[in-house]
Amino acid sequence: ANANTANLGGVVGAAPSAGEAAALTILYGSQTGNSKGVATKLKEQAESRGLAVKLVSMSDYKPTALKKEKFLTVVVSTYGEGEPPEDAETLHEFLATKKAPKLDGVKIAVIGLGDSSYEFFCQTAKDFEERLNKLGAETIYQRADLDVDYDDEAATWITGALDAFEPDLKVQQGATGGQVVSFGAPAIAASQYTKQNPFAAELSLVQKITGRDSSKDVRHVEISLEGSDITYTPGDSLGVYFLNDEALVDEVLTLTQIDGATSVKLGDVELSVRDALIEKLELTQSYPGFVEKYAIATGTPELLKLVEDKAAMREYIEARQIFDVIRQNPAVLEAQTLVDCLRKLQARLYSIASSQAEVEDEVHLTIGLVEFDAFGSEHLGGCSGYLARRAKEGCKVKVFSEHNDNFRLPANDETPVIMVGPGTGIAPFRAFLQERDAREASGKNWLFFGNPHFTQDFLYQVEIQGYLKSGLLSQVDVAFSRDQAEKIYVQDKLRSNSKAVFEWLEAGAHFYICGDANRMAKDVHQALVDIIKENSGKNDEDAEQYLKDLRSANRYQKDVY
Ligand code: 2AM
Repeated sequence: ANANTANLGGVVGAAPSAGEAAALTILYGSQTGNSKGVATKLKEQAESRGLAVKLVSMSDYKPTALKKEKFLTVVVSTYGEGEPPEDAETLHEFLATKKAPKLDGVKIAVIGLGDSSYEFFCQTAKDFEERLNKLGAETIYQRADLDVDYDDEAATWITGALDAFEPDLKVQQGATGGQVVSFGAPAIAASQYTKQNPFAAELSLVQKITGRDSSKDVRHVEISLEGSDITYTPGDSLGVYFLNDEALVDEVLTLTQIDGATSVKLGDVELSVRDALIEKLELTQSYPGFVEKYAIATGTPELLKLVEDKAAMREYIEARQIFDVIRQNPAVLEAQTLVDCLRKLQARLYSIASSQAEVEDEVHLTIGLVEFDAFGSEHLGGCSGYLARRAKEGCKVKVFSEHNDNFRLPANDETPVIMVGPGTGIAPFRAFLQERDAREASGKNWLFFGNPHFTQDFLYQVEIQGYLKSGLLSQVDVAFSRDQAEKIYVQDKLRSNSKAVFEWLEAGAHFYICGDANRMAKDVHQALVDIIKENSGKNDEDAEQYLKDLRSANRYQKDVY
């Protein structure tokens, strides 16, 4: 926010109001940084054309500033069940209220990022465009809804959108003498290793940390970053690439009667189809786009019917991984045709479970193995299956770190923190605790953890009890949901500590949630609302406002999935 305000000073010095009118505002709403990345590319491209741009995070944007916009692009991702990233929540909501200004004459273009494996694909981008249009803004370049492998399409969209804006901006710019105003976020010291250029790191340890009789298989994973310049901060994530199961790949090749040695093209790269299927293409997480392409390529009537029926398609993909679709509908295909049906394999992002202050050039993860039976066979998640079952300790895995400024310990070491992390949601809090321990931070730390059974599923039990003993943790509340007849969840533990939780908040505590987005995070939010009401006498609306204010002050942060 400070960087933006500082730069605003520059605009005031330029020709009054015309200076702002000339600029293209790029508003982004990002949770893990993908939208911010696309927005930054858009800004760079605009600048290289000599256009004036303002790049602003929605979290730093005053909704009332909308009135002054003339040219606006929105870059926004969608999470969970069609929800906006936290950064975008306030603006998203504001646009649907009566307070939202008329935007007649404003020209806009919207680009959405999402994952077509989910039902409400790019819903937030759709909402933004619809709400802005309703207020009178005119779409001058068609919205793109981008899937997880968005890089190429994003570049195409940026070129097209800037072509559409450029004539108007040039006219406007003439009035201000062609001044370029840039509202950049401060750059983070970046590693040379990125999503596009990951580091081949040694997998040092994969250890099961749930008990023999647990219903879950959770792994503590340690990866060495030695030899790389990768650094990370507690709250960041690690992107991990993986290899598909060779047995599955060979089965797919047999089913489609493709010779694995056949050469195929992926963009500019040529490689064997077998290598492409092992290393480069998604074979597990299913999404409608694959079924559609495969249905057309093979002319399978039952699959073609699904393309017409959204609800049936949803049900179909939710029950299957990609190779199931091929297994159940085998057809002879050209190697390149099969490849063109599949989307690029995406690295999986995991919340980092360690602090470099403690583990130096290692990085630790807490990974739940995705496993289920379907159609008489075991199914494993792509990356978790690779790490837990196929990868050998000592082998190389390709990784990169992804910064997440939306999940950070307080800058002030004296500030108390409350952490709610059931299941693998514990991961970033292990990192927080290591960091605060190393920094000898005096602020109090309170952890809420939950899982099915105490004896089987108390992740990092020894460490947590050690921190409790040393005093680093002032309090730990555990919710072992299935150890008694009635379910007990972390939100129940929060409620039973209602008074103390509220006192901590009033004393300036930061509140963090990590884990399941769809149910847990919502239930915990509701528990917080109730706790605030109970202890302050506020009504629902004011209690929600209390939490909004906490969020604006970066004191209420979520890392949920
Ligand atoms: P359950 O599986 O016994 O229902 C980590 O997954 C823990 O979160 C488990 O103990 C799980 O309990 C629990 N859990 C399930 N639904 C939840 C919810 N809505 N809120 C909080 N915890 C939940």
